[in-house]
Order: sequence, then structure tokens, then C-alpha cells
Amino acid sequence: MREKLIKEALTALNNAYAPYSNFKVGASILTDSGNIYSGCNVENASFGATICAERNAATTAIAKEGEVRFKAIAIASTAAEPAPPCGICRQFLSEFTDPEAPVYLVSSMGGRVKEFSFGTLMPETFTKF
Ligand code: THU
Repeated sequence: MREKLIKEALTALNNAYAPYSNFKVGASILTDSGNIYSGCNVENASFGATICAERNAATTAIAKEGEVRFKAIAIASTAAEPAPPCGICRQFLSEFTDPEAPVYLVSSMGGRVKEFSFGTLMPETFTKF
């Protein structure tokens, strides 16, 4: 499953719309029902309107099938070293992702896969108020 998830993230990266940063990102999410949903970053001339790949994948999972429990995440980018998710995406994903869920980070240029648990990347989540 790990390899499939990573492959899907790398495929999604090809659809990234990143004319401003030229930094392409793809993300894939495995839900507790066993489905995989993917997304890419979609930039905008109004930079703040840019959507990250991770949130794109998450909202796709929810919009398509109402899936809100995430079991594993793969993130691929064009950076030479595997790039971790931004703070906004960590917060966004924390509402849906188990702390034990593995997060696989890869570069589209190849090399080793970096692996973290989601809880390591995002401890002390803000999910209730
Ligand atoms: N980006 C993502 O898609 N995910 C992240 O976690 C970090 C940043 C995108 C947003 C923007 O299109 C580009 O990478 C540069 O910040």
C-alpha cells in the first residue's frame, strides 16, 4: 500500500498548476475504507488563494465520498529533498488523520522516502473549542 500511495502522489504531482513557484506537489490519502484520493497544488495570481496538494486531496476525499478518517498520507514534490507539509495543511489534516498514520515524503527526483507518524509532525492538535 505504501508504494501505491506514493505512486499516486507522484502521478497527482504531474497535474500541479504552479506557474508562480514552479514547485509542484502531489498528495495522496488512504482512508479507513481503503480508498485513495489525490490532489495537487493549484496556485493563483492572488497568491494567498493558492491551494496546497494535501488540502486538495483531503477535500476531494470528503467531497467525493464523505470520507473523514485518514490512515496514511503520501506527499511528493519537485524539491530535491522530500518536503514536509506546511503548517496550514498540518492543522487542516489533523481533524481527519490518526496520530499513528504514516506520512511518506518523497522527491519526484527519486531518492529515499522519509517517513513520519502524523502525530510527530503535528503534536498537540487544535481540534476542539
Ligand atoms: N505547497 C503544497 O502544495 N503543500 C505544502 O505543504 C507546501 C506548499 C505548495 C503551495 C504552493 O503552490 C507551492 O507549494 C509553493 O509554496
